[in-house]
Amino acid sequence: MKNLGILLSGRGSNFVAIADSVDAGRIPNAQISIVISNRADAPGIETAKERGLKTLVIPSKGKPREAHDQEVVAALQDHKVDLVCLAGYMRLLSPWFVQQFPQRILNIHPSLLPSFPGLEAQEQAFAYGVKVSGCTVHFVDEELDHGAIIVQKTVPVLDSDDEHTLAARILEQEHIAYTEAIKILLEGKYEVAGRRLVGLQKSEVRMQK
Ligand code: GRF
Repeated sequence: MKNLGILLSGRGSNFVAIADSVDAGRIPNAQISIVISNRADAPGIETAKERGLKTLVIPSKGKPREAHDQEVVAALQDHKVDLVCLAGYMRLLSPWFVQQFPQRILNIHPSLLPSFPGLEAQEQAFAYGVKVSGCTVHFVDEELDHGAIIVQKTVPVLDSDDEHTLAARILEQEHIAYTEAIKILLEGKYEVAGRRLVGLQKSEVRMQK
């Protein structure tokens, strides 16, 4: 059984999608062992409690990044987390944090990276006038919205769209993409060559073990 640790700061719809996938067996042999928020008022943390999951609020306000990260990493280790899933976690992780979970931290971003990193990616894409956008699940490395890509989903930008309808259509794909990415990671049938995550054949997986 693999343990997932969820970090969030807000609404938590990606967390709910992951939790639903775990409950429905779409992510086999996995459980959510802890849900952590840096904000006490994050709606996602309430949802996690209602679902009977273990939750922790570790406030970040006024704390140096490293000190906060140390608390969060300690909590993840206490709960024996194998894979850390950032789900709307509005904090940059320190390089030290990233090094504690090498290729074991995922993030979801609402654009086709490397286009439109940073905040309000859907609005950025809409304002730029792109005809296709989407979402990206990627490894977290020391740079913002930067690590190797695990899954991307495309979404057309319609003439009738505004930022909100586009964001809503991207969000539907986010929920599907995150489950797919977690499954790929937990199954382990991949290798990362430079920035490219590529699937392995069954025989190659055996050879690696
Ligand atoms: C999502 O758009 C995600 O891509 C971004 O933050 C938002 C979080 O939404 N990183 P939710 O809290 O999962 O509903």
